[in-house]
Amino acid sequence: MIRVRTDGAAEWISQPELERMADQLDAAHRRLWDPGADAGKKGWLFWPAENHEELWRAVEETAGRIRAAADAVVVVGIGGSYLGARAALTMLRPSSEWSGPRDFGVVFAGHQLSEGYLERLLEDLEAREPALVMISKSGSTLEPGAAFHVLRRYLERRYGPGAKRRIYVVTDPERGALREYAREKGYGHLPVPPDIGGRYSVLTAVGMLPMALAGIDIRAVMEGARREWALCRNPGLWENPAYLYAACRHLLYLGGRPVEALVTYEPRLGDVARWWQQLFGESQGKGGRGLFPALLHYTTDLHSLGQLVQEGPRLLFETVLHLVERRDGTGVTIPGDVDEASRRLAGKRLADLQEAAIVAVMEAHREGGVPNLLIEAAGPEPEVFGELVFFFEVACAVGGYLLAVDPFDQPGVEAYKRKLKERLDRRG
Ligand code: PA5
Repeated sequence: MIRVRTDGAAEWISQPELERMADQLDAAHRRLWDPGADAGKKGWLFWPAENHEELWRAVEETAGRIRAAADAVVVVGIGGSYLGARAALTMLRPSSEWSGPRDFGVVFAGHQLSEGYLERLLEDLEAREPALVMISKSGSTLEPGAAFHVLRRYLERRYGPGAKRRIYVVTDPERGALREYAREKGYGHLPVPPDIGGRYSVLTAVGMLPMALAGIDIRAVMEGARREWALCRNPGLWENPAYLYAACRHLLYLGGRPVEALVTYEPRLGDVARWWQQLFGESQGKGGRGLFPALLHYTTDLHSLGQLVQEGPRLLFETVLHLVERRDGTGVTIPGDVDEASRRLAGKRLADLQEAAIVAVMEAHREGGVPNLLIEAAGPEPEVFGELVFFFEVACAVGGYLLAVDPFDQPGVEAYKRKLKERLDRRG
């Protein structure tokens, strides 16, 4: 269950202002849910309500086959073909990268061009029996393409003709060279639906295969997404938390706050924040418009950026993403026999200190002139992940409409790709 609290921004957004957004939101709502508008780009919107049983069975079978043959998997991808899976694994399986010789490890590659990273990974793989999953919708992205072929060749050298049983591809089922290449080589493959863009694809095989490999219950994730889907059908601002969030950040933007910092207090939400950053940055930053999505990891960053937030230029607002966790067991309690400086901590749980810090920091920053929104998510965690994904996707799409940009394309990303390809061709 996701709740959006706006009291921390009340000084900057008035109730009448929010009410006045109703007409614009209504238009955005109608456009969003009209299957004919932006046709071919909104497969993600109807996805949680559809029956994908056949796909889930294929995902689970593929994960089972990989786990039976290997003790580690390298998942190759970048952007929307990487961040969602990473977000899920960090949130739901905080130690999914191998930490001991017998753990099944999921490790990512192809999300940068670091030679050192790949060299170290290849060294580590020597002690493992690895498999490889290549995720690229277009099949032509440079970074994952480079890593994939290095790792594929490594497996071929190591396992000979048996290598092909360790290599799987997730790509567009109709277009792209990777699809053809996988067919020729005999690799197992799963589809990325053509009408779902990269950053909206985490609930397809793109995110679900890595999740299943890490032992996450993908049906529970979908259940959460389905629940959020039903809520997001509501046209009204107060009945639809995603619209409330979209409206508030839009009003703050219009009121002179072009930077939105997503604040997390739990390290395991760090990659959810990075996924959020790509979703909003790539969807909305167009035609000179869009909020800059920044990340703040508290309380760590309070000791590096806290000063700037409290007293620097008044450009940003904060959106705190908070997991309301079940409090069972004793947790981690600070002992009673502490020194004088730690007296106020004595006997308290760390979780209580964190709750107190969230409230205190929001209050201090408000007093310093920083509006804050609070997104609270509660419930069983795989479901919560599914809810968060769909909540943010809807808020992002509707926010894009409010900004009058196309939230489903990314023409600006092509500029660097073109230059890099030209350069590589010139050298070649
Ligand atoms: O959201 C997007 O469309 C992008 O971030 C892509 O996911 C990213 O560029 C990777 O593309 P591909 O999956 O085609 O390799």
